[in-house]
Amino acid sequence: MSEAKINAAKAALAYVKDGMCIGLGSGSTTKEFIRLLGEKAKTGMKITCVTTSFDSRMLAIESGLFVTETDAIDEIDLAVDGADKVTKTALLKGGGGALTREKIIGYNAKKFIIIVDESKVMDGVLEGEVNLEVLPFAAPLVMKHLKAYKPRIRMAKAKLGPVISDNGSFIIDCHMKLDNPKDTEQRLKSMPGIIENGIFTKFDLIIVGNEKGHRIL
Ligand code: A5P
Repeated sequence: MSEAKINAAKAALAYVKDGMCIGLGSGSTTKEFIRLLGEKAKTGMKITCVTTSFDSRMLAIESGLFVTETDAIDEIDLAVDGADKVTKTALLKGGGGALTREKIIGYNAKKFIIIVDESKVMDGVLEGEVNLEVLPFAAPLVMKHLKAYKPRIRMAKAKLGPVISDNGSFIIDCHMKLDNPKDTEQRLKSMPGIIENGIFTKFDLIIVGNEKGHRIL
């Protein structure tokens, strides 16, 4: 596992305090954070977790963390998650197909920290795969509307047919250059059938890990 991801996760761990409810993101960088959080909780800290995917839930339980659901907590003190591409003001997420729960947990947290390695940092305009979670019934119509962005239904690797998200939906991947990420995030959000999109414009801190330590973007 890359030292850069571990160093980003270690830096985020410094924000965890006793008694907190932590929102756990998804992906390989967040996995490092979950493992470290599990070790920290074993030192006697009272930590409650809510998760953004079955994948993170399974690892959190395996790491000895107490995992609950959003109806059993008052508030999320801190959410920690990875990203596929980052600029100072916007991110692309959803490579793991967990974007909807990631946005729900991240945007509802009192503090939302992003952890990435240097390979995710982009200069200038944010450009890349914009991942959408879409109701299967609406998928053909959404694809027609977004034709200019070459939309593709994400196909499964160890199952026939499309990827089915943790929420029972399709994931559609498009390619976009985002001159105004906030506007595009809202425009996609307003299209019937799109449950959520992977453009994130609300977060507090981006921690960029490297082989020796980390920096704040
Ligand atoms: C999951 O849906 C994604 O949003 C991940 O947070 C993102 O893909 C980052 O994953 P890695 O840390 O594995 O690069």
